[in-house]
Parts: sequence; C-alpha cells; structure tokens
Amino acid sequence: MSDDWGFDTAQVHAGATPDPGTGARATPIFATSSFVYESAEQAAASFLLDDLEGYGYTRMSNPTTAVAERRIARLEGGVVAVATASGQSATALSLLNLLRSGDHVVMAGQIYGGTSNLLGQRFAEIGIGLTVVPVDDHDAWRAAIRPTTRAFFAESIGNPIGAVADLEAIARIAHEDARVPFIVDNTLATPYLLRPLEHGADVVVHSTTKFLSGHGTVIGGVVVDGATFDFGAEPERWPGFHKPDAGHGSEGYWARFSPQRQAYSRRLRSTVLRDYGPAPSPFNSFLLIQGLETLSLRMRQHVANAEAVVQHLLAHPQVERVHFPTLPGTPWSATAQRLLPRGGGAIVSFDIAGGLDAGRRFVDAVRLFSHLANVGDVRSLVIHPASTTNSGQSPEQRLAAGIGPGLIRLSIGIEDAADLVADLDRAFAAALGG
Ligand SMILES: Cc1ncc(COP(=O)(O)O)c(C=O)c1O
Repeated sequence: MSDDWGFDTAQVHAGATPDPGTGARATPIFATSSFVYESAEQAAASFLLDDLEGYGYTRMSNPTTAVAERRIARLEGGVVAVATASGQSATALSLLNLLRSGDHVVMAGQIYGGTSNLLGQRFAEIGIGLTVVPVDDHDAWRAAIRPTTRAFFAESIGNPIGAVADLEAIARIAHEDARVPFIVDNTLATPYLLRPLEHGADVVVHSTTKFLSGHGTVIGGVVVDGATFDFGAEPERWPGFHKPDAGHGSEGYWARFSPQRQAYSRRLRSTVLRDYGPAPSPFNSFLLIQGLETLSLRMRQHVANAEAVVQHLLAHPQVERVHFPTLPGTPWSATAQRLLPRGGGAIVSFDIAGGLDAGRRFVDAVRLFSHLANVGDVRSLVIHPASTTNSGQSPEQRLAAGIGPGLIRLSIGIEDAADLVADLDRAFAAALGG
C-alpha cells in the first residue's frame, strides 16, 4: 500500500491485496465465524493480545471486514479503523470506550435524532450525563465542561439542517479546556469532502450505511482513531486505559499499545466491541468495500445534483427557507466555505410553506424520490423529520436542532438533476392541496 496514493486510487486499492491462497482479485467474503488456531500456544497468545496478526473470531475481526477497515482508515487519514454493525453502534462504542457511569459528555445540538436518543436517553439510564450546546456557540461548549466531562461529540455536517461544526475551534476547547477527546461523526461529509482528523478531531465515526456503502443495501458503522489524544498525560482521569483488563495481561492498554498508536483502537476492539458484541457481517463488509471503490465518483454527482436542487428550491415560491451547509446567512456558512471546498454534501432540507400538512402532502406525492428513513443512497430520498427520525425529541429539542414542523429533508441521489427537479415540482403542486 502506498502512502502517496491519491484519494481515487486509495478508495480502490488501499488495504487489499490479491488473496494469497487463491489469487482472487476482489476481496472474498470470509463467511466464517471462527478461525482455526495453529496451536494451543497461539490460541493463548491470541487471547492475551500477544498475537494481533491472526484472526480468531469474527465478533472481533474478520479478513473481509479488515480490508474495509484499512481502507477507511486510509481515506480518513487515521491510524486504525474498527468496523461495527451500524452507525449507532459505532457512536455508542466510540464513547463507551472512554466513559463510565458518572461521566459526562458535551454534544452539539444540531445532530442526528438517533444520536440524541442514544446519549440523551440510553446513556442517561446508565448514569452518563449530557449537555447539549448549539454547535456554533463556542462559549457554551466551554461553559458546559464539568470535572466529569470525558468527551466532546459533534457532526461535521449536522443531520438534517447541515449545521457545520468549526472543528478546529471545538477541538481547541476539548483539548485545552476540557482535556478530553473530540469525536466527530463524519457521515454526511464523507472523507471525500472533509477529513476531521486533519482539523483537530481525535476520533471519527461513520454510519457506513450512508454514502460510504452508498447503495442503500447495508447497515454498518466504523470508528476511526487518529491516535492523537494523550491518555497518558493524566492517567487518573482514564482508568480504562491504565488498569489491566482481566485476561489481557498485567499492563493497561496505554502502556502496552500507545507506542504503536493503538491504545484507543485496541481497547475498543478487545473490550467494548468484544463484550457488547455489535460486529459487522462479512457480507456487509464486502458490500461496503464495493461502495468505497466509487465513493468520489458518486460524491461528485451527489454534490452537483444537490447544488442544482438547492438553486431550484431557493427560487421556489412554496419554499420558506433552504438549509444547506454552504449557503450564506447562517452562523456556520463561513466555516462551511472553509472546510468544504468540494461542496456541502447531498443532504438538502427546506421549510415548506403550509407547514405540517403541506409537508405530509409533499412526501405522499413524490414518485422518483423514495419516502424512507435513510440518507446517502444513489437513489434520491425524502422524509419529514418531525414526525419520523426526530419524533423522539420534544418540540423544544427539535427547534434547538433547527427542525420545524414543516421541515422536509432530501437526500439527493445520482440520477439526472432535471428528473429530480421535475419530481419535486410535482410534489409541490400536490402540497398546495385542495
Ligand atoms: C449522521 C448519522 N450518524 C449516525 C447514524 C446512525 O447510523 P445507522 O443507521 O447506520 O445505525 C445516522 C443514521 O441516519 C446518521 O444520519
């Protein structure tokens, strides 16, 4: 693997070689739960984490999944990636690798509803505190810090209204004021548009369900570690990295794996992934690899189509407001212009005149767009967040996230832009009702 490869080469080749046993050029699907140990000695070494080369059990690692992991680590500019069964489990594990009951997280408000449910409800049930702040209010990030704070969390491009996090500024507060890692969900941007590790993030998570696999066929997630956070500076704050873990030898993860820059990723794989268990299926990893190979091509078409749709919406009399990262007039537009020179992605939201009822008529009338709860498919998608993806939030929480009753979220696919615009116009006509 060459470190010099450009993005388009790396998305096709990084992390894969022809299969040494068969010569298979495409990465095979290793559909096996387990791998035979060479000896009792090697089996014991594998459990002690003395042998990290071989495979033991697909809940921890698998050769098909490993190709996807290496490729995504390379595309994000990270050291190690660990794949999971879903984006939700990637977010959960990225945090559970750091947190214990009594700890606290500061999170951006303009964020995917499922992440809000996970941290605001499930983590609350196990004694993990949360403060939600407007992504662009850096004083609020600073003021939310408590002695128990152990992580900052934001989305690079927020779902659904496209609020862009000023990654450098938030990373500085995380590192200098809170002394904690900054985790960034980069699902909506993809590493083709933005690489958060280059802007101060320590860890990146993705729902690979979306653009990375790209065809609406996979549920998956990944955690990518940049190995930038120093868990050795204040050991008493990070007991999980300094106390030995039962069955894994007499040293903590930091002492043992920080020289290879693998303390966070190794602990994630060998404790929280192993013990909570949300491992990806090798078949899904195969589909993810297929998707990765065309990521930049698809993203270029997604972005071009999204920009055409944005222009159409801006001129439409039934549109009250368009939400797209790079549009002027938001607190984050300057940040978006700086961080997203290749474009603002493909999630376009808008407030429809006529509110909730008009929104319902709109989603019922589309034909080419599919009305469903996903984004990042080659097909164009539409949903009404207030009654679906964000219905678990209170109206106040939704408003804080920028989600009004008439907000409609589009995920723009790679079809012909003219056909997408024609379908939207049909739905606008239906939304007028009567
Ligand atoms: C930004 C973002 N992060 C995480 C997730 C969760 O991913 P998954 O549905 O793969 O569990 C989603 C799903 O919509 C998302 O949009």
